[in-house]
Amino acid sequence: MDQSDAPLLDALVEYRKANRYGFTPPGHRQGRGTDDRVLSVLGREPFHDDLLANGGLDDRLSSNGYLKRAEDLMAEAVDAEVAWFSTCGSSLSVKAAMMAVAGGDGGLLVSRDSHKSIVAGLIFSGVQPRWVTPRWDADRHISHPPSPDDVDEAFERNPDAAGALIVSPSPYGTCADLEEIAAVCHDRGKPLIVDEAWGAHLPFHADLPTWAMDAGADVCVVSVHKMGAGFEQGSVFHLQGDLVDQDRLSACADLLQTTSPSVLMYAAMDGWRRQMVQHGHELLGSAIDLANRLRDEIETIPDLEVLDDELIGVQASHDLDCLQVLMDVSATGTSGYQAADWLREHKQVDVGMADHRRILATMSFADDRSTAERLLDALRGWRDAVDDFDPAPQIRLPAPEEIELETVQLPRDAFFGPVEMVPAEQACGRIAAEQITPYPPGIPAVVPGERLSDAVIDYLRTGVAAGMNLPDPADPSLGQIRVVA
Ligand SMILES: Cc1ncc(COP(=O)(O)O)c(C=O)c1O
Repeated sequence: MDQSDAPLLDALVEYRKANRYGFTPPGHRQGRGTDDRVLSVLGREPFHDDLLANGGLDDRLSSNGYLKRAEDLMAEAVDAEVAWFSTCGSSLSVKAAMMAVAGGDGGLLVSRDSHKSIVAGLIFSGVQPRWVTPRWDADRHISHPPSPDDVDEAFERNPDAAGALIVSPSPYGTCADLEEIAAVCHDRGKPLIVDEAWGAHLPFHADLPTWAMDAGADVCVVSVHKMGAGFEQGSVFHLQGDLVDQDRLSACADLLQTTSPSVLMYAAMDGWRRQMVQHGHELLGSAIDLANRLRDEIETIPDLEVLDDELIGVQASHDLDCLQVLMDVSATGTSGYQAADWLREHKQVDVGMADHRRILATMSFADDRSTAERLLDALRGWRDAVDDFDPAPQIRLPAPEEIELETVQLPRDAFFGPVEMVPAEQACGRIAAEQITPYPPGIPAVVPGERLSDAVIDYLRTGVAAGMNLPDPADPSLGQIRVVA
């Protein structure tokens, strides 16, 4: 295929040239009806190109195949057999993949460090999670993706599991040994799904961790908006091999997705693929150099430790995406929450994740020396100010053996069955009926169907007091917890 084509972008140009007009949604009619106060902020361009995908950009039968061609170009560019664009984020894509693989019986091996969108998929698909325990660094209080042996043992315990789902890279940039995990799955004739939400850029530079399709995964989903250059919510499913039924995957995506996908999102993904094929190696190469230099420079700031080698090893992660610059601030006696809040308030700089002892700066191919300098300046300013911070409120962190709760009910049953709110002090021993997720990074500490323990409740409540954000429980302050009645 000609990778210099961008069929969706070209179709937009054609649409304009032909002076088409639709008596169809969207009702703003290419911005004609949009309030001037909206246009003065957003501009007319986004409205101009916000069209119906079928019966607008393409005809009602999609006879020009713009979307299909853009997806085929994407598949070819990243060595997948099939690619589909989605405009509902990896949050949707991963659910479709789970349902396609494990919608029947047997459950699914799911790494317990999964994102809340995967747990949401368990809740409404009714799939039984067969948890795979991630590896846990108790000193740094950070989890690492499961090893191939962990996955193998999980299959030993659950031979009927329909497949395995692994998150890699993690939101910290740490990666699983996907090649070996794929081999473990395939030895048993089972498919491997990879939630590669943070890995859209991986196919385009060999110095980045191995791309899931190259590692032999059967399905992987990526968020183009995270490490690529799509609009927010742009996501792609990739498929290869014959362990996952292509038609079923497509049908599961169809069940979940919107009937009004955004052409803007589609077109941005199309253009990003072309950009990566033509310039990705050079752009990502520069980003890698920039990030590596930045890592060294940040290390010169007293009490700020950039995590890299310590994240990799036999008992840790297999690989690391160096564009994810994870910094430990604990030597200052203050928290990552305090650092993130200070950087936002005083330097107008946002970081991607903050927890009780870390902040994460995600570098992109769009960054350059000037943005790296901005981050350095902000961090130096924070270091000068940090001695005046109040000491960080203490979070009571659970020990590794306390962090994983016992699963006693199917997440769906616990979520949809009769529930009641109980004071947090009385919730120990009860079965959770809601997710409770420190966000970011978005890994649920509590999944519906798990038996609550004091250690985890204490962790979350002291976390909230220290600045942790819990977006999903009915009572985000966690004074009360929603449990199975
Ligand atoms: C590991 C992981 N999977 C899935 C998602 C969901 O992706 P999206 O925001 O594209 O819906 C996220 C989002 O942060 C994530 O971190």
